[in-house]
Amino acid sequence: MKKVDVLVIGSGVAGLTFAIKMAEKHPDRQICVLTKTNKEESNTRYAQGGVAAVWNFDTDSHEKHIEDTLDAGDGLCDTDVVDIVVKEGPVRVEELIEWGTRFDKKNENYDLGREGGHSENRILHYKDLTGWEIQRALNEKAKSYPNLEYIEHYFAIDLITQHHLGRWVTRLTPNIECYGAYALDTDTHEIETILAKVTVLATGGAGQVYKTTTNPSIATGDGMAMVYRAKGRMENMEFVQFHPTSLFNPAIENPAFLVSEAVRGFGAILKTPEGKEFMQKYDPRKSLAPRDIVARAIDNEMKMRGQDYMCLDCSHLDKDAFIGHFPTIYDKCKSLGIDPMKDLIPVVPAAHYICGGVKTDQVGQTSMLNLYACGECSCTGLHGANRLASNSLLEGLVFGHRIYEEVSQKIEGIDYAEGIPNWDATGTTDPKEMVLITQSMKELKEIMSSYVGIVRTNVRLKRAFDRLHILYKETEELYSNTTISPQLCELRNLITIAYMITRSAATRRESRGLHYNTDYPEQQPFLEMTLI
Ligand code: FAD
Ligand code: SIN
Repeated sequence: MKKVDVLVIGSGVAGLTFAIKMAEKHPDRQICVLTKTNKEESNTRYAQGGVAAVWNFDTDSHEKHIEDTLDAGDGLCDTDVVDIVVKEGPVRVEELIEWGTRFDKKNENYDLGREGGHSENRILHYKDLTGWEIQRALNEKAKSYPNLEYIEHYFAIDLITQHHLGRWVTRLTPNIECYGAYALDTDTHEIETILAKVTVLATGGAGQVYKTTTNPSIATGDGMAMVYRAKGRMENMEFVQFHPTSLFNPAIENPAFLVSEAVRGFGAILKTPEGKEFMQKYDPRKSLAPRDIVARAIDNEMKMRGQDYMCLDCSHLDKDAFIGHFPTIYDKCKSLGIDPMKDLIPVVPAAHYICGGVKTDQVGQTSMLNLYACGECSCTGLHGANRLASNSLLEGLVFGHRIYEEVSQKIEGIDYAEGIPNWDATGTTDPKEMVLITQSMKELKEIMSSYVGIVRTNVRLKRAFDRLHILYKETEELYSNTTISPQLCELRNLITIAYMITRSAATRRESRGLHYNTDYPEQQPFLEMTLI
């Protein structure tokens, strides 16, 4: 059994921002960060476009960024949270720069990019590798604190609560407490009990619940599923953002390669494979309309025309400037025999971001005592029904900081739980049939992509429910008699995520933001969050 003051699960932008600040301010406290594979791997590492922050006050303002965020969020943003994130964001980005993050400059000033839904250029970026650069700088900074233990290949399985003390815990139980987590050391296959005064979840997204996703294989919604199992509150899970432009590759890649929205911000135009513009039919902002509109437009054109992809035309753009801004995208296209300066780039929508998650308040506190959540696994109220491009890294920075301030004040009064048992693996044996796990994973992704994708109907949602129920029963049985492995845990977590998305989607009897149900094509005047 291990005891630490603070347990941070996840080492992307949100988890490390919190951990670094906490370690710096409290050299006497032990901060432990777990990451399920290696330090370089996270959704953060793949971010291309950049971080949205008001930087040039001659042309831009907090009010404009707030308005753009609210407009994308389609009536469901928490306006106070939007205000907080937009106004505190620039200071957090300055800190990131002080910690060694590089952003591209033009004539001594930051070269601010534009993305869909933004009324001004306000995206700070490092070529098309912004997330890689942020992850690099944070990993480097984290090394400098002797009280920050950063453990790779540790897979958090479940949160520890009163349930593990033998008490009956339901969704109606008041004051559910979090005492730390059970985690699997994937090198030794031992399950460790980690007790913590405070636990911070920063486990990222769940794109792997769909067949085509820009998210890396670690994005299996583990943190969200753990909170749901522990009977914590979840919110807005139906709002799954599909990025309009992942690179179409007939030799399906997992993850799908992203062609950043910044490419459209740079002037690329969406066209049919025959070279005809179509976005004017859907929105006056055309190729730079918010993501939900563009993804649905592409989906619709593909279905209407029976084509496998739509295209991005970059042929009119300056070649040197394009390569300077988007070297990775350029190289990737070339590797597939596509010359972005001459050929149309084939693109398809792909699951990209989940706007819902673990419900938190303005300081990242979840419904469970001593459990905080930040980053993509959380639902703070910033994104509402649709996230504005490049607001996610910003949210991770702002909430990482807010949780640090809150925990700094509170931790003095918190003690370790007594009497927590170690993990009990009696009655389980090594998996004999890996195919049961891999096949169920394939089925799961197929169900979600076919029935709970960009366009939903009541019949599709019902079918998804029925199929998910079978997968759920089979997987729970497997879980009860099989030795724990990351693959089995991820399958189980993704089934939970799929259930939450489908259930929330079925509950929302309207179309709004990222949730589009053809049986209820209109918005309802009464706005509400879907809580589970
Ligand atoms: P992540 O960065 O995903 O980190 C999650 C961490 O949790 C990882 O370290 C992982 O190992 C760990 N973890 C997960 N489960 C467990 C477990 N069970 N046990 C232990 N550890 C666990 N957003 C923007 O704002 N701007 C962009 O330009 C942008 N571009 C994007 C491009 C791509 C291709 C993708 C996929 C996303 C992009 N996003 C962008 C979204 C953004 O990158 C993510 O939302 C954000 O980085 C999430 O950060 P995070 O800290 O919450 O989680
Ligand atoms: C992109 O670069 O298009 C992704 C930006 C984001 O997801 O915020």
